[in-house]
Amino acid sequence: MKRLVILSCSPGETEAMGRQLGSILPRGSLVALRGELGGGKTCFTCGIASAAAPESAHLVASPTFAIMNEYPGTVPVYHFDFYRLSGDNEIAELGFEEYLQGDGICIIEWSERLEELLPKDHLAVTFEHCGDDQRRVVFEAAGQESEALLARFATLAKFKFPLT
Ligand SMILES: Nc1ncnc2c1ncn2[C@@H]1O[C@H](COP(=O)(O)OP(=O)(O)OP(=O)(O)O)[C@@H](O)[C@H]1O
Ligand SMILES: [Mg+2]
Repeated sequence: MKRLVILSCSPGETEAMGRQLGSILPRGSLVALRGELGGGKTCFTCGIASAAAPESAHLVASPTFAIMNEYPGTVPVYHFDFYRLSGDNEIAELGFEEYLQGDGICIIEWSERLEELLPKDHLAVTFEHCGDDQRRVVFEAAGQESEALLARFATLAKFKFPLT
C-alpha cells in the first residue's frame, strides 16, 4: 500500500494513531513528519514513543532547541526536529544517518528540510489542518518495506479511525 488518509478529530486520536504505528514499527525504520506548525507532529511522536519506549514517553517534547531528543526504551526512539536547520551542512554535521543504522526508530519533524537525504525506503506522514480540532493525516510509503508496513498499519487502523 502506497497511501492512506485518515481523519483525526482530536489530539487524543492523533496520539492513538502514533501508538498504533509505534507498536509495529521495526527497528531501523524512519518516519518523516511534515506539515504546518501545530499540525500534530509532536503529538503523533508521543504516541509512537508510548508504544516503542513507554519508559520514556513522558519525556517527549518538541526538540526545537536540541535538534534531537533521545527516548531510551525497549526500542529507543530518536526524535529530530529540523525546523531551525538552515542548510545541508548543518544537517550533515548531525550525522543523523548513524542513528538509522542503530537499533532504534528515527522520527523527523520538518523532514521537508532534508528530503533529498532521506533513505529511499521510509514512511512519510503529513498533517493538514482542516478546521478546529480536525487534521487530515496522509501516510505515504516510499519503498517496499514501508509499503508492507503501511498495509499492516491500515489493517489495524481501519477498526479505529475514519479512513477518508
Ligand atoms: N486532531 C488533532 N491532532 C493533533 N493535535 C491537535 C488536534 N486538534 C488540535 N490539536 C492541537 O494542535 C496542537 C498540535 O501540536 P504539536 O506540537 O503536536 O504540533 P507540531 O506539528 O509538532 O507543531 P510544530 O511544527 O510547532 O512542531 C496541540 O496544541 C494540540 O492540542
Ligand atoms: Mg513539533
